[in-house]
Amino acid sequence: MLPPLPDDDIARIIIDDRIFYMLQRQGRKDAAGIILGRYDIPHALPVVDRVLGQFQHGRELHDTVVVACQHLLGSVFAQMVSLRNLGVLPENCYILGKPYSSSRPVYEMFARAGFNIFKETVDFPATIVRSRKFYDEFMRQTLENISHAAIERATALREVPRLLLIDDGGLLIDTFENLARHAAGPLDIMAIEQTRGGILRLDEREEEKRRFSVINVAQCRAKLRTESPLIAESVVDHIQQRLDYLGAPRRRLIRDQRFLVLGYGAVGAWIAKELRSRRARAISVFDTDAARLAIAAANDLETPNTQQQALRSADVVIAATGHSSLQLEALNRIRRRMLLVSAGSSNREFGAFIPEMRVWGRMPAFDHEPSPFALLHGDYAIRARGVDAIILNGGFPVNFDGSIDPISPARIQLTRGLMVGACIQASTISRWRVGSPEVGRLLALRGDIDDFVESEALSKRAK
Ligand SMILES: NC(=O)c1ccc[n+]([C@@H]2O[C@H](COP(=O)([O-])OP(=O)(O)OC[C@H]3O[C@@H](n4cnc5c(N)ncnc54)[C@H](O)[C@@H]3O)[C@@H](O)[C@H]2O)c1
Repeated sequence: MLPPLPDDDIARIIIDDRIFYMLQRQGRKDAAGIILGRYDIPHALPVVDRVLGQFQHGRELHDTVVVACQHLLGSVFAQMVSLRNLGVLPENCYILGKPYSSSRPVYEMFARAGFNIFKETVDFPATIVRSRKFYDEFMRQTLENISHAAIERATALREVPRLLLIDDGGLLIDTFENLARHAAGPLDIMAIEQTRGGILRLDEREEEKRRFSVINVAQCRAKLRTESPLIAESVVDHIQQRLDYLGAPRRRLIRDQRFLVLGYGAVGAWIAKELRSRRARAISVFDTDAARLAIAAANDLETPNTQQQALRSADVVIAATGHSSLQLEALNRIRRRMLLVSAGSSNREFGAFIPEMRVWGRMPAFDHEPSPFALLHGDYAIRARGVDAIILNGGFPVNFDGSIDPISPARIQLTRGLMVGACIQASTISRWRVGSPEVGRLLALRGDIDDFVESEALSKRAK
């Protein structure tokens, strides 16, 4: 008999992980099936279907190998399955899910559907939680292994191997840049980048030194205008869930807390707005860019002049800078317990705290010997050098807690539609040959695709 599912999301996810290992240890071959039977993972998304209906020509990608580094969520499964319409078969897809955001049931779904999904998505050493350096090395090494396997497969499909990269953060593109530089023969490569962090990495590389072109979904209009509010809402929802844990038996609420948002960019600005709409007790903002601070002030937010000043009156710090945003020294004169919440990517925001993180026992993760998954999604105490703080979700973004869809598929299909639209755009571009003139460009997502996806995602038909 399996334990019943608790109502609570975090407990459910971690208990699921434990049940899976328990069943596996008992030699149960149906472990994955039992876990999958408890969830509903979408095979299709209305907006994605309409993008295909509107823009797709044919099966132009039938001889192309797709390599993807993605957050492995339910809606991403539907995105990848839909590429079949462009001729991409699951056996020609090589996928690594980011360990910190991926869901075990979704991983099992990909494996069952015949995708080459790399086990490192869910099977990773606990050391990656405890060191930024190990995390980066683990990802780099795994992506290199995937890339070699993908090139081998592409070589079997076509005289000049043809690869479409779907990236989130720029690491996959980096890996192929290095491979392409040392390739023995000709290669055709095109890439799609989903995040601004990945585009910044590209900007650091001079155009004439880039080996292939990249379609920039990260900065398309629909993503900037319509995705950020969804992320903000998901971040604040997940903070409330964790507050429920930490405050037990008495519930702690958003409206009881004083928040400091570090980074008033696309994500941070919407988080501040979301907190205001939920009547947070106080909201202040700190950004290293004075122009961003001025916008925050114009929006009637408190904008202390220094980070130190801003920290003095905060109970919860939410970091959305994309960088290492806080150092230990900044907290060591604050005589109150603080909650540190990342809304950025990987465990970069509070990277400086990692060596001092100690398991904190309120999570169900730590009732028994914790798995690497439970360690990744657990909460940690910092009690060193005069600091008293709790870091949520291993220092990884709080809304990526291993659940299937931190944002409902009905809403995040906007992003999936944009990514599939970018795949269609890639299929219509003739020049993919590495190193030839006219490649190495950063290409904007086509305006007609951008506008169509946004209006479809916002229309009632999307639901
Ligand atoms: N959690 C999620 O679901 C999710 C989804 C999308 C993006 N993200 C991540 O959120 C982060 C922010 O994304 P964005 O699109 O808002 O980026 P952005 O570039 O628009 O904003 C970042 C802001 O942080 C400021 N900043 C940089 N360093 C700072 C520091 N040390 N202290 C204070 N401010 C600093 C910058 O001036 C800028 O205004 C990225 O890491 C991104 O990958 C998370």
